[in-house]
Amino acid sequence: MHVIETQNLYKEYTQKFSKQKVNALNDFTFNVEQGEIFGLLGPNGAGKTTLIKILLAITFPTNGSAKLFGTDVKNHKAKTKVGYLPENHKFPSYLTGEQVLKYYGQLSGMSAGTDMNKRIDEMLGMMNLTQWRNTKIKKYSKGMMQKLGLAQSMLSDPDLIFLDEPTDGVDPIGRKEIRDILAQIKSRGKTIFLNSHLLSEVEMICDRVAILNKGDLIKEGNVDDLTKAENIFAIHTVDTLTMDVKQKVLAIDGNAGIGEKEINTEAGIDKLNGIIDSLRSNGVKIQTVNQKTSTLEELFINVIKKDNTN
Ligand SMILES: Nc1ncnc2c1ncn2[C@@H]1O[C@H](COP(=O)(O)OP(=O)(O)OP(=O)(O)O)[C@@H](O)[C@H]1O
Ligand SMILES: [Mg+2]
Repeated sequence: MHVIETQNLYKEYTQKFSKQKVNALNDFTFNVEQGEIFGLLGPNGAGKTTLIKILLAITFPTNGSAKLFGTDVKNHKAKTKVGYLPENHKFPSYLTGEQVLKYYGQLSGMSAGTDMNKRIDEMLGMMNLTQWRNTKIKKYSKGMMQKLGLAQSMLSDPDLIFLDEPTDGVDPIGRKEIRDILAQIKSRGKTIFLNSHLLSEVEMICDRVAILNKGDLIKEGNVDDLTKAENIFAIHTVDTLTMDVKQKVLAIDGNAGIGEKEINTEAGIDKLNGIIDSLRSNGVKIQTVNQKTSTLEELFINVIKKDNTN
């Protein structure tokens, strides 16, 4: 059974005044499996929030269907094992951290009592917020607020958690803390659905991503496969390359890109080694040799550009 499953989802909005139609999702079919950290990426207006809203039955598809844990999202029981951290959440600022968790715990159907209090203690500890539990949240920093939001989404121990921009506005140390917490949740078999614009972050956290553009699913795959090494190598030398040496490199790979102390080649591993032999036999010291991998950000920009010109 898939944790999330959508079948040919379509969502068409009609703008209120102009009556213009917007296709927010086109024939969107995908699955998320148990224990995955799944990232949904896409430019502004791509349809990401629309998808989350359909999965949480906050809005309904024009066509197609969606299931959580095998139950149609139209059935409210589909949501019993789900946690949600909305983007830009606003908790009542006059409450303390602990009161926020009690309030939202009860809203999610937990009964007030020892079990809930124990769970709140556990969550505050996990988020490093124990010493702030009795402080009003209006005094919390942005990072503390996000961690409190994360605690809220995990309070009822859900099996699937939707996180909309969980590290938004959080400093590098806080982001690392959040990444570690997500890894910990994942190791307990939970599934995480993440919506983020911070692609370096997504690259570090997610197992699999889908890229949405104008309602279309244009790319989907494992992060490792999508960013895997390309056949491009960069050699950096200690010594400045002489004209003579440059000529010898070009004799091996006529398309090599050559700088003062740098050679880039896409001619494959044999020619790379040929270039290295030639440099060494000419007494050139090599500092580093690197294989280029594309970042998720590079991939994202490329596929969006390509899709927009089609
Ligand atoms: N309630 C609505 N009524 C009409 N059009 C809407 C409504 N909600 C969203 N849209 C339109 O649907 C498209 C997808 O919007 P959506 O909010 O899902 O994008 P998004 O990928 O979440 O963008 P962002 O990254 O900016 O949050 C946009 O063109 C948007 O204008
Ligand atoms: Mg959105």
